[in-house]
Amino acid sequence: MKALISVVTPLLLLACGSGAPSSTSSESRAIVKDEHSLSNPAEVRVEHIKLDLEILFAEQRLKGRAILKLSRGAGSHTLVLDTQALEILGVEGADGRPREWSLEPAVDRLGRALRITLRDGDDEVGVRYRTGEGAEALQFLSPAMAGGEHPYLFTQGESILTRSWIPCQDTPGVRVTYDANIIAPRPLTVLMSADRRGGSRELVQDDGIDEERLVWSFEMTRPIPCYLIALACGEIEERPISERCSVYAAPSLVDAAAEEFADLEEMVSTAEGILGPYRWGRYDLLVLPPAFPYGGMENPTLTFLTPTVIAGDRSLVSVVAHELAHSWSGNLVTNATWSDFWLNEGFTVYCERRIMEALYGLERVRMDEVLAGEGLEREMQEMQAWQTVLHTNLTGKHPDEGFSGVPYNKGALFLHRLEALLGRREFDLLLREWFDGHAFQSVTTSDLESFLAERLPPGAIDLTDWFEGVGLPQDAPHFESPALEQVDEELERLAEGAAPKELETAGWVTAQWLAFIRHLPADTDAETLALLDQAFGFTQSGNAEILAAWLERGIASGYAGIDARLESFLIEVGRFKYLGPLYRALVQRPGGRERAREIFERARPGYHPVSAGRVEAILNENG
Ligand code: BES
Ligand code: ZN
Repeated sequence: MKALISVVTPLLLLACGSGAPSSTSSESRAIVKDEHSLSNPAEVRVEHIKLDLEILFAEQRLKGRAILKLSRGAGSHTLVLDTQALEILGVEGADGRPREWSLEPAVDRLGRALRITLRDGDDEVGVRYRTGEGAEALQFLSPAMAGGEHPYLFTQGESILTRSWIPCQDTPGVRVTYDANIIAPRPLTVLMSADRRGGSRELVQDDGIDEERLVWSFEMTRPIPCYLIALACGEIEERPISERCSVYAAPSLVDAAAEEFADLEEMVSTAEGILGPYRWGRYDLLVLPPAFPYGGMENPTLTFLTPTVIAGDRSLVSVVAHELAHSWSGNLVTNATWSDFWLNEGFTVYCERRIMEALYGLERVRMDEVLAGEGLEREMQEMQAWQTVLHTNLTGKHPDEGFSGVPYNKGALFLHRLEALLGRREFDLLLREWFDGHAFQSVTTSDLESFLAERLPPGAIDLTDWFEGVGLPQDAPHFESPALEQVDEELERLAEGAAPKELETAGWVTAQWLAFIRHLPADTDAETLALLDQAFGFTQSGNAEILAAWLERGIASGYAGIDARLESFLIEVGRFKYLGPLYRALVQRPGGRERAREIFERARPGYHPVSAGRVEAILNENG
């Protein structure tokens, strides 16, 4: 093992600079072929995107222009871009005059290629366009759904949705810088995953100042994949946490949010201590309306977050640690294709746990690890073999079909295994070297394989089994948590006839309650659930994790006490992590499919197109 240190250390010393990359770092690598993009970056590559867009709430569209700065190989006269549901209004070359273009027929799941004929000297092209009705990245919310008096818009780019609001080379193997001028109606605020350039300005037109609209300007100077370009617009207020961290949210929520995330600066500096300098300038959080389809999304400089993580006691802040960790795994070092998605998420779950351990102690993290391990094993039992592989084969599939606990939790187990193998000190040096040596680059599973093969003792681990194999390898770590064992002891007492009120639950944390609910015997009847509810108030829980686990449990046992809460939850919350299991539990009940359809009908206007599509698929499964 000594040898490892001597290999790692000198490289580490060379690579510990911070800030923007040298201009060569992302150019030195060949572009990896990506089956989920129709674009042609190997011939002509987009390097910078300049956006001029107006948000039209009445039409639920964006309209404007993207100017794409190009790097061209000799003899390439065609630029191919990804689009989805975009209406192209015109294309101009570097001289401002029209260029020939065509929108190719739609390709299943991938949208339509926009093919532009370039002239010599076209080092940029301008595409005028507006977004279409089926734009998958955009979610417009009515004032009611935004929880106030004004409408709201947010974008969600990952995995291949950015093409529905920006014509671009929508592959994570291509990195761009961007700047943007966004016009929005007063008094709304616009935020992007970029540095804000001087707040908002009045819009000056030929006939004077427009009283109704403002222009907001942004600049991202570090090269990022297109899926990380993000925009939000609504009634939003800011609460500073530290010099580089703020929390943004709707006025009615912003104080509670600032309270919940008061540890934000500490989280960033803790992460830096483990992973290396934070290279993105600011780290802000934007708490979105409950319709937001994910727990969090790691948009650079500005994590997007579901309000369901605001539990009032900071018990769900691991979601923030997770999105913050993506500032290294994902945003700094990016999966080059969606088959390498586990490189983003597996590394991030591991790093999230390291941050949480440093801040809140090992005991808390162990509980999460055990729960994640149980979840993974449960999930894998229902999966097809290909879905249990880290390096997934997505040919003929949408990248989101590879989305499951496998890239997250099997991915993290791989890193825990490496840590166990090397010891934490050496493993940490290796991790730093991986991030520093691939900063602002996009990487594949085979890049990781070569990197590790050069640095690990021969025969120490079967990398091919981990990356390409089905299920869990023999040497996958297994975690134990005394705090969760305590929960199982109380469950045993319950099974032996103890009344819920007699159980020793004082001081239990969220993970213990989750284990309690999930470990209830499958045949627990509705009467028992009613007693538990009386004793512990699960149906009224303000903790979304506990509530969602409880609702799922209640559906399975036909416990009517949850019905009203279940419906209001499904109508208010768009986070797919909750919607999926709840709708799945519903359709498994006698008559449940009809009930689920009826609720979905009412809830659908509030769901993101992606969540809505997936729920619909569940409602139609084998029926
Ligand atoms: N990057 C993901 C969200 C994502 C993945 C969006 C794939 C689109 C396609 C984000 O970092 C994430 O993993 N969010 C989790 C939370 C996390 C704590 C596991 C979520 O949304 O539940
Ligand atoms: Zn993630």
